[in-house]
Amino acid sequence: MNTKTSHLLDGKALAERIQAELKERIQSLQPQIGRPPGLAVLMVGDNPASAAYVRNKERACTKAGIASFGQHFPVNTTQSELEQVIQALNQDQRVDGILVQLPLPDRLDAVALLHQIDPDKDADGLHPVNLGRLVRGEHGLRSCTPAGVMRLLQEYQIQLKGKQAVVVGRSILVGKPLTLMLLEADATVTIAHSRSQDLPAITKSADILIAAVGRPALITAEMVKPGAVVVDVGINRVSDATGNSRLVGDVDFESVQGVAEYITPVPGGIGPMTVAMLLQNTVLSYSQRQK
Ligand SMILES: NC(=O)c1ccc[n+]([C@@H]2O[C@H](COP(=O)([O-])OP(=O)(O)OC[C@H]3O[C@@H](n4cnc5c(N)ncnc54)[C@H](OP(=O)(O)O)[C@@H]3O)[C@@H](O)[C@H]2O)c1
Repeated sequence: MNTKTSHLLDGKALAERIQAELKERIQSLQPQIGRPPGLAVLMVGDNPASAAYVRNKERACTKAGIASFGQHFPVNTTQSELEQVIQALNQDQRVDGILVQLPLPDRLDAVALLHQIDPDKDADGLHPVNLGRLVRGEHGLRSCTPAGVMRLLQEYQIQLKGKQAVVVGRSILVGKPLTLMLLEADATVTIAHSRSQDLPAITKSADILIAAVGRPALITAEMVKPGAVVVDVGINRVSDATGNSRLVGDVDFESVQGVAEYITPVPGGIGPMTVAMLLQNTVLSYSQRQK
């Protein structure tokens, strides 16, 4: 049995520090701008996981001094009603960030709604203009979860230049933008997905391995190169034999922590970093208003 323990990449502690720094920045900007920053989180329906995420985001906003303009809509809200709400928020001078909490009910077109958001208020960094800026390496609002991964790696001074990075998962929310950010940091990047053949061989080549899939324990110790840095983006709710439920990532933490040099916990890793980056994007948009 391997008794070695990995170092933890503590996203919770870093996120708290970033939020405290943002609070100070807001306090220094507020006299010039004349109002606090504002974030609008739009939620449709009653998905309990989404409701918990929205509560988390709003709590973090309050703590940092960001005003919440969130709205919760019934499940039968129409596409055009939501488009009108977004248009009004685009014009609202008190609002610096707009975020549509995903997933939306199936009959709504989430992509069309994201396109309606003013790219300068795109707190989630998912508007095509901001994704395009990322592709070109231009300044812009970056997607929160991948930005949170990069910020955490930077905090622990993980060397990326010239290293082999493997991202498992190719969603537009996490895998694809993260791949571009790792490339920007001069890593050699491989992206794997559900059609990749021999996933263990791919993951084992990684100096930096990032799992963003949504499958508990997909990544086991045998799939990890000894000494690798393992970042677990996955959030999965699982139940044990007694019916108690808990959150786990995509990485089998117990076995992998004996092999990796660094590993993120779930919860307490990328989840809190995502919220911190959301607030950071909102404050970045806010700070542009002083010009
Ligand atoms: N920590 C956070 O703040 C945060 C934020 C966002 C998401 N998440 C979590 O991250 C996970 C991924 O989210 P997402 O939105 O990116 O999910 P998603 O849109 O469902 O994408 C999942 C990706 O995983 C790939 N995949 C599925 N099964 C696979 C397998 N057996 N082997 C290799 N790849 C496989 C899929 O491949 P195909 O493209 O071929 O289908 C897809 O690219 C979820 O657990 C989600 O809850 C966490």
